[in-house]
Formats: sequence, structure tokens, C-alpha cells
Amino acid sequence: MSAIEQIEQERLEAQSRLDAVKSQAERNRLGQFATPTALAVDILRYANTLVPERSKVRFLDPAIGTGAFYSALVRIFSLSRLAAALGFEIDPQYARKAQALWKDTPLKVVPGDFTKAAPPDNDTDKATLVICNPPYVRHHHLARDDKIRLHNLAARAAGVELSGLAGLYSHFLCIGHQWMARDGLAGWLIPSEFMDVKYGLAVKLYLLDKVTLLRIHRFDPADVQFDDALVSSAVVWFRNAPAPEGHTVEFTYGGTLLEPRLSRQVAADALWHSPKWTQYPMAAEAAAVKRTRPVLADLFVIKRGIATGANKFFILTPQQAKQLSLPSGFLKPILPSPRYVHVDEIPADSRGNPLVEPRLLLLDCHLPPDEVRGKHPTLWAYLQTGTKDGIDKGYICTHRSPWYAQEDRPPAMFLCTYMGRQGKEARGPFRFILNHSKATAANTYLLLYPRQRLAKVLRERPEAAVAVWRALNSIPAEAIVGEGRIYGGGLHKIEPRELANAPAQSVLKAVEGIIDSRNEQMVLFE
Ligand SMILES: C[S@@+](CC[C@H](N)C(=O)[O-])C[C@H]1O[C@@H](n2cnc3c(N)ncnc32)[C@H](O)[C@@H]1O
Repeated sequence: MSAIEQIEQERLEAQSRLDAVKSQAERNRLGQFATPTALAVDILRYANTLVPERSKVRFLDPAIGTGAFYSALVRIFSLSRLAAALGFEIDPQYARKAQALWKDTPLKVVPGDFTKAAPPDNDTDKATLVICNPPYVRHHHLARDDKIRLHNLAARAAGVELSGLAGLYSHFLCIGHQWMARDGLAGWLIPSEFMDVKYGLAVKLYLLDKVTLLRIHRFDPADVQFDDALVSSAVVWFRNAPAPEGHTVEFTYGGTLLEPRLSRQVAADALWHSPKWTQYPMAAEAAAVKRTRPVLADLFVIKRGIATGANKFFILTPQQAKQLSLPSGFLKPILPSPRYVHVDEIPADSRGNPLVEPRLLLLDCHLPPDEVRGKHPTLWAYLQTGTKDGIDKGYICTHRSPWYAQEDRPPAMFLCTYMGRQGKEARGPFRFILNHSKATAANTYLLLYPRQRLAKVLRERPEAAVAVWRALNSIPAEAIVGEGRIYGGGLHKIEPRELANAPAQSVLKAVEGIIDSRNEQMVLFE
């Protein structure tokens, strides 16, 4: 038996001894239900499939107990891959035992309340792997003052407002966000009820909006391998990075994480509109919501703007580009964020450059590295600085090839701001912008590309552009807001699919007024 296996044996014995001397009420109060070894091993084996091979791991378990997950970690990942390991434990008995058991390994056990600890300031000190079975403490066991403190903490950390009915595990998961490194991976073993109930909404919002939800696995209650506290549990996997466009989430059920009985990919967009997530993976994607026509999707293809993966690196001022002697062929004008654009109509100079400040350029190159090195030494030198700073290792950059090639987003004549607050006047939170320039836009905008027939009308009668733009801005704010989502503090956001559902009657009427022929109007639909 290896030294680690011996420690695991000792840990299991200590766990049973410690559990046995506590009353059920005591254990309920602190959510003290240890993870069975087989499940901890399954979870860490699966985590190992998601963590890049040979990469160093900074591990965190915010509710470590005696260290079921840490024990599985050191058995599955080699010790040499551990750059750091940290655990919190509020119960002094478990904390002392964990400290004693793992004293000759990198694990640091901090005795005390995880929710009162200060997260590291630097990304490099944050966890790249968070695995946790947090305390399942129901909300009515939380003191009023504590509930307010936890609610505020979770809002600050994860940007969502947890309901007063949310259990402590929801707060743990949200607070854990501040402890995760960029692109870090998390696996949370939590009750699956959040997937269906109203007070789980904020957690779902966090999973869809703030991070990339990778997978949710639910156990089959008929499986007897787990004790009662775990039968209705789920393991939720996510990465601390924005979800790419068209992202899908894997829902699995039964069996183990490595060998689930059922599996289905579900579009993240469908999850926004799906109140009951436990229907997956059994149910097909929810039937498309019936739409009243016409909607903007009938007239436009709507896409979110470019997610560069590192705006500071890829978006430059003309002065910066000049200093770096970057070849102009790889620089495209890009609009500044809507908060700098105070006009709703963007004029352009004779070359198509937008006449708004600040002037910005997007670095976009699709040539393979060898060609850049050979033909464009200044660009190559700049890319090397990016590699040195780890830009190429970011989630978005690793998902495209080469890492410095941007998504294809031609300049759009019509744009919509992606988020905003309700204005003081009658104005809604979103505004449509008429862009006369050849600038593309980042993901603080949605881009509306006219479909073929509307594009033809706009080509043949350029004056129609202003009419279409005015009509877009005349769509009642409630109709657009109703399609989007609202966040704490009154911040509204709208995704391409949601804007696509907004009514387009006013736009049709405007075009009809210009082409003044009913027959022509009818053919606008494709
Ligand atoms: C569900 S158990 C999981 C223990 C261990 N990680 C495992 O998987 O076996 C949750 C643990 O969190 C501890 N705990 C409860 N509240 C805590 C808090 N506020 N901060 C840190 N630990 C806490 C409990 O004492 C318990 O050991």
C-alpha cells in the first residue's frame, strides 16, 4: 500500500470516528456529509480529463472536511503537478485532523469560515481547479445577519442576487468565483434542486452568463453507491471564461461521470428559456417558443460583436500600432465601446474610418505563424510579447487557430448596444446605432446584418437606411426588454437570439413607406 493510500485509509477511519461523536442536528447545522471515496475519485478522474495535460494545478476545496477530494487529487494527478493546494474547514476537529493527515504534502488547511476569508488579489495566486462538496445548509438555518452578509458577498463575487431562500451551497458557489483563476475549472457537488426551483435562478444565471457551463451530471437515485444525503445531487462543471457563441452544455444522468448512462448536448441559449433543467438529458430541447411574426430575425441576421479574448492586446490606438510598426493590412477600424459613443449615428471619413473618439484598430491576422515570422517581423515580435504574457493561453485564444485570428464580423450598418440601464427619459436601455463607417465592433454591441432582400432595398435606395434605423429605435423599449434579461441594479442585457425575437412591424412599415408597393414589401421575407 502506498503512503497516500495509507493516509486515505487513516482518513476514512478518522472521518467515521468524528462523524460518530456528532449528533445528526450538529452535522446538519454545518452540512457535514463527507463524500464517499468512490465518488471523490470519479470526480477527480473526470477533472483530470479537463485539465490540460502536464499543466500545474493550484487546487482549492472551500469546505475540505478531512480531505476526500484532496486525497483523490493526489492519487490521480501526480504530486509533481501540484503547484499549491488550499482547503478551508470551519470545524476545528476536522480541520486539525486534515492538517495532521496531510502535513507532509503541499496541502494548506486553513481552520475557519471560507466565506470570511479574503480571496487572493492576483490571478496567478488563484485556483486553477476548485472541487467542492459545500455544506448543504438550508436557508432557515442561516442567521438573518449572516444571510445579508452572504447575499452581498455573493452579489459582489458573481454579479447575481441570490434569493433569500437559497441554501448556503449557493453562496459558496458564487463566492468561490473570486477564488478562481481566469480559465480555471470548477466542479461543485451540490443538490440538484437549484436546477428547477425559483431560488436556483440566480445560480443558473451565474452559470450561463458569468462562466462557461460545461456539464451537469445528475446521479440516479436508484444507484445505491451513495448515501442518502447525495442521491439528489448533481456535479456542476464550469470554467471561469465567457461562453463562446453557440455554446452547448452537456447534461448527463446516471452511471458515473466517466461513464454516464444518458447524455445530451443542450444549447446554452435554450437553457435561458428553460425553467426546469432536470428535464435534461431525458427531454429533447424545449420546443421553440411560438413567435409572432414579423420579428427582427425575419429581416436581419443578428450576431454579437467580436470577442477578442484580450482587448488590451488586440485593440490598439493608431499611435500604438505606429510605434510597433504593425503592418496596416492586419489592422481594421473597430468602434469604441458604446459608453464612449454618445451619438446614435456614426459618421465616417472618405476612407470609411469612423469619426468617433477614441480611434481604435483591431489586430486581426489569419496567416499561420511561420508565414508571419518570415514575412512580417514586426507583427511577429508583437505576437511574441502576447505569447510571453500568456495571451495565447486564454480560453478564447486557445479555441481559435491561429490564436491571433479574429472572428469574421464585417462592418454592420446597424448595431444595438448589448447592455444598458433604463434611461432617465423615456429612452430604453438599448439603443440602435446607424454606422456609416467601415468599422467592425466588439461584443459590447450586437451586429444586425440585413438579410438578402432588405440588403437589396438598402443598396438600391440608400435613404432607406435612416428610415430603418429610426424604426428600430421606435420599437417599444418594453418589447425588447421583455426578450432580454435584467440583472441586479437594473442592468439589462440582450443576446442575439433574444433581440431576434423583438417585433419588426415598425421596420417593415418604414421600408414599405419607401418602396411603397405592397408586393415589394411582401418579398422582404425570406
Ligand atoms: C459536505 S461536507 C464536505 C467535506 C469534504 N470536502 C468531503 O467532500 O468529504 C462540508 C464541510 O464544510 C464544512 N463547513 C461548513 N461551513 C463551512 C464554512 N463556512 N467554511 C468552511 N467550511 C465549512 C463542514 O464542517 C464540512 O466538513
